Amino acid sequence: MTPPTRILLHEETLEPSFVPPKLVRRDTELQLLYRRYREALGRGLPYHLLLTGGIGSGKTAIARRLADDLERGGRLRDLPVRATYVNCWRRASDRTVMLDLLRSVGTSLPDRGYGLSEMLDVFEQGLRRAPAHHLILLDEAAALVKQGTKLVYLLSRSREVELGSISLVLVAAEDLLPYLDAASRSSFGVTRRLALAPYDQEDLTEILAARAEIALRPGSVSREILGQIARVAGRGGDARFALELLLNAARSAEDAGESEVTSEHVRRGKGSLLPTVTETQLESLSTNELGVLLAISRSLKGKRSSVASQKLRSSHAALLEELGGSPMSRTTFWRTLKELERDGLVTLEAAGSGESSQVAMDELPASYLATLLEERLGLARSSKG
Ligand SMILES: Nc1ncnc2c1ncn2[C@@H]1O[C@H](COP(=O)(O)OP(=O)(O)O)[C@@H](O)[C@H]1O
Ligand SMILES: [Mg+2]
Repeated sequence: MTPPTRILLHEETLEPSFVPPKLVRRDTELQLLYRRYREALGRGLPYHLLLTGGIGSGKTAIARRLADDLERGGRLRDLPVRATYVNCWRRASDRTVMLDLLRSVGTSLPDRGYGLSEMLDVFEQGLRRAPAHHLILLDEAAALVKQGTKLVYLLSRSREVELGSISLVLVAAEDLLPYLDAASRSSFGVTRRLALAPYDQEDLTEILAARAEIALRPGSVSREILGQIARVAGRGGDARFALELLLNAARSAEDAGESEVTSEHVRRGKGSLLPTVTETQLESLSTNELGVLLAISRSLKGKRSSVASQKLRSSHAALLEELGGSPMSRTTFWRTLKELERDGLVTLEAAGSGESSQVAMDELPASYLATLLEERLGLARSSKG
């Protein structure tokens, strides 16, 4: 037996905590932020930013990249930039965040018995020991802000309260301004907010391609499959989910002892992340729908992630013959496809001009769905697919 070929050469680079060396399709945003921080710090002024965007829109990745870039960008007014990252998700109180900040300047206090202002004094001493432009990233800041943080106010007024040069990046999924006090709100004026647009399918495909290059064996996943994963990840533009799907598909291929990720692995990988089609759902389909869906499943059992509608129509016609049914008109065929699309079972994608559309089914492994449908339609399991 030949040993199975590894696909996941660097699995750790598909973990959510991995910060990719290069961000795909966020150059404009990154450069804009980099410039704004450099300009302000160069004039001796702190700069604060509220960065928002949906889940998996790259907020954390951008914030961390920005911090790295600023740290490496050289001194400004003879001071280096020093960044501190705090994830506030589980530290949703000023005191717990403060303890992290203290640790970042090499001090620590027992987490009882000190008030916020005393902690800030100790923090200030720490800052003085290492003069720098301090950039504090407060990620997942929603809970902290919603429960009425004073820390954001104090840090954003660092100059007035003589804390030295402190700039903030507040990161959250939603707009936090309504929850901030008026004074802090003014620190996050219009130019100090950036809302990241969700990624579209093409963006996600590019992100997947860049990560596959780092994580997977060259040639183990094709562009078509990456496009399929981007499609499955859906309209939310969630890059994290897309990368998780890629990881699952690659695992599923490795488990099967195969050396390439195919569209069946993608479907299987999705099934292990999300509840998919149930048998009950199939019960509600019309006979027309069942037949067309079976034709689709059979066409997708190989390596394809989608099938051209024209080709599908001829294999469906052949299937109807096998079933002993009467032929279906073009109109009915199309209406049935549309119904399946509405039921969330298939995806229709218009191809280039003059070509027919591409029909995809990403919900569960095509071979498995074909078996379910054959049983439902009373076709012998032994019939060749
Ligand atoms: N533009 C991008 N280029 C490369 N990888 C990205 C990009 N945007 C997001 N990612 C990756 O997608 C995943 C989710 O991004 P993340 O920054 O954690 O999203 P958010 O913080 O908005 O939920 C991470 O693994 C991240 O590295
Ligand atoms: Mg994040």
